[in-house]
Amino acid sequence: MENFILNCHRQVNAQLEAFLPTEDGSAERLHGAVRYSVFNGGKRIRPLLCYGAACAVADIDETTIKIASAIEMMHAYSLIHDDLPAMDDDDLRRGKPACHVEYGEGIAILAGDALQSLAFQQLIDIEGLDQPTHLELLRLLIRGGGSSGMVAGQAIDLVSTGSEIDLPKLVEMHRLKTAAMIESSVIMGAVGTAKADEEQLVALRTFGTSIGVAFQIQDDILDLESSTEELGKEQGSDMNGGKTTFTSLLGLEMAKENVTELYNNSIESLEIFGDRADRLRSIANFIVTRNF
Ligand code: IPE
Ligand code: IPE
Ligand code: MG
Ligand code: MG
Ligand code: MG
Repeated sequence: MENFILNCHRQVNAQLEAFLPTEDGSAERLHGAVRYSVFNGGKRIRPLLCYGAACAVADIDETTIKIASAIEMMHAYSLIHDDLPAMDDDDLRRGKPACHVEYGEGIAILAGDALQSLAFQQLIDIEGLDQPTHLELLRLLIRGGGSSGMVAGQAIDLVSTGSEIDLPKLVEMHRLKTAAMIESSVIMGAVGTAKADEEQLVALRTFGTSIGVAFQIQDDILDLESSTEELGKEQGSDMNGGKTTFTSLLGLEMAKENVTELYNNSIESLEIFGDRADRLRSIANFIVTRNF
């Protein structure tokens, strides 16, 4: 598993390094901010899930690397905007000043915009795919990261900040703002191999949604339980920002029970893959046991 993780990190980082515009071009400050936000120590969980899903149905290839890189760019964009003063107003990300603190708000907004279109560019640049598969990959990134996925979830988060929302609304918010991109990361890894059948895709979708919601509940738990040093982001940010989270609504113990239940569901959905899904199982386990 260690080799699998190292390999994924190495390949995706190399791809991003080669693909992203350099800092010495015409918009050096913009591209400095883009690179700052991509190469500042993310866990690369979504690329790992993409790789794990490709392994569950077939093998990793050049296409998997590019899909994983596109997903990570979309994710990096979402974090830049998430930290902005108009959103969560967080100054620390991955143990370093947030993009808007380092580069200013305007450039941070533009760096997010740039990363979003670069993510699509990266998908479009993939060679050798049949057209239906290629279009499906674009659709999946739109569904996970766009206005019926991550962006919708972030909008619910914003509107509900400072007021109480009920549990179904909170689950919907988590599903959209975080699980949608995680679900797409998993399915895109499988679709990119062009070898996944319908039964496998249904199973992977269930896996992605369950582990995706568990991911955000664990993130909410860590906001209370981990330290600023461990997290690389300000501990207690949710409480100070007036966020409704699983912990604020249900308490720590119930939140943890929810994580366990979702984790168990996610593992159950992988049964049809046998050993081939062991990587996904390990990543799922990491997601619910991590402390950062
Ligand atoms: C943080 O995601 C944002 C959420 C969706 C909760 P990660 O915890 O994957 O962030 P990095 O990329 O590792 O910093
Ligand atoms: C962020 O959720 C979800 C995104 C889509 C970026 P959070 O606001 O809880 O993420 P962190 O805790 O700042 O990383
Ligand atoms: Mg947020
Ligand atoms: Mg935040
Ligand atoms: Mg959080």
